[in-house]
Amino acid sequence: MPLSNAFIHALRVVTENAALAAFDWVGRGEKELGDGAAVDAMRDALARIPVCGEIVIGEGEKDEAPHLFRGERIGCLEREPEWDIAVDPVEGTTFLAHGLAGSMAVIGLAPRGTMFDPGPAFYMEKLVVCGPARGKVDPRWPPEQIVAAVAEAMKKPVEDVTVFVLDKPRHRDLVARLRATGCRVSLQAAGDVAGALLAAITESPVDILMGTGGTPEGVLVAGAVNALGGDMFGRLDPQRPDEAAAVAEAGLDTTRWYGLDELTSSNDTLFCATGITSGHLCSGIDRTAKLDRIQTLLISGRTRERQLLTTWRARN
Ligand code: FBP
Repeated sequence: MPLSNAFIHALRVVTENAALAAFDWVGRGEKELGDGAAVDAMRDALARIPVCGEIVIGEGEKDEAPHLFRGERIGCLEREPEWDIAVDPVEGTTFLAHGLAGSMAVIGLAPRGTMFDPGPAFYMEKLVVCGPARGKVDPRWPPEQIVAAVAEAMKKPVEDVTVFVLDKPRHRDLVARLRATGCRVSLQAAGDVAGALLAAITESPVDILMGTGGTPEGVLVAGAVNALGGDMFGRLDPQRPDEAAAVAEAGLDTTRWYGLDELTSSNDTLFCATGITSGHLCSGIDRTAKLDRIQTLLISGRTRERQLLTTWRARN
């Protein structure tokens, strides 16, 4: 499975093209149209790179998503796929539609059969911590104990620990308990892919991600969290009765916490995120009459390198 620089460059063009397509929809109040433009651009770009894979995390089932649906083969029909592919052409569709910071086009790759298959589960409770706390926390502990353990691992007071939590009614009790410990809570309307990456990056302003968000986003980001040296756990946490019924019917255990090695069982992962609107991890697209300036975060599991790459593309 070659991971040449040319391949990595080609992958970066995939998220760049998706981000550029989505950028036309920033602030226009049209989540679906913006997402659809990014999906089409990402699929076109994927068809032009030498990748042979299958979508494991996509836009949904074939019936509801014409492109990039779960099970769709990318780049090869005759051969067995070599890669599991997770896509999120727009992570933060509301940010995009409302012209707010933090939307990104994202893709993750892992060797075939190594990405966790979440079945019909839409929601997952997640815990992500930075490198110094890897192996030192248990997701079954109460949040107060987790915060204390991370503070100790990072050799700083609890007051200096920041926990990223999605600002959702389901987290009201969690947020109150966290604040009672004295730590900071960074309450974000959306975007727990960025939250997980920030938690995994030791020197970022976030130390922990806690709470329930999308399962696809959790699986997509797990390879990058591993490459960054962080730790991650996920527990399926259905939020709707139909989802709970489907998860039960699939025989999935909602009490079980999956470890990082179960969410992503290979170190040979690749992750690319291109900013659409500016966020903590990469700048958004900066468009002038003649040029688009585009920024992409690239994380390689094989080399454990994190790169922030800026491209200037002529507008035609
Ligand atoms: P979208 O880009 O699909 O809008 O997802 C954004 C997001 O905030 C994810 O980062 C997160 O995992 C998920 O939505 C949480 O879902 P919900 O808003 O339904 O709680």
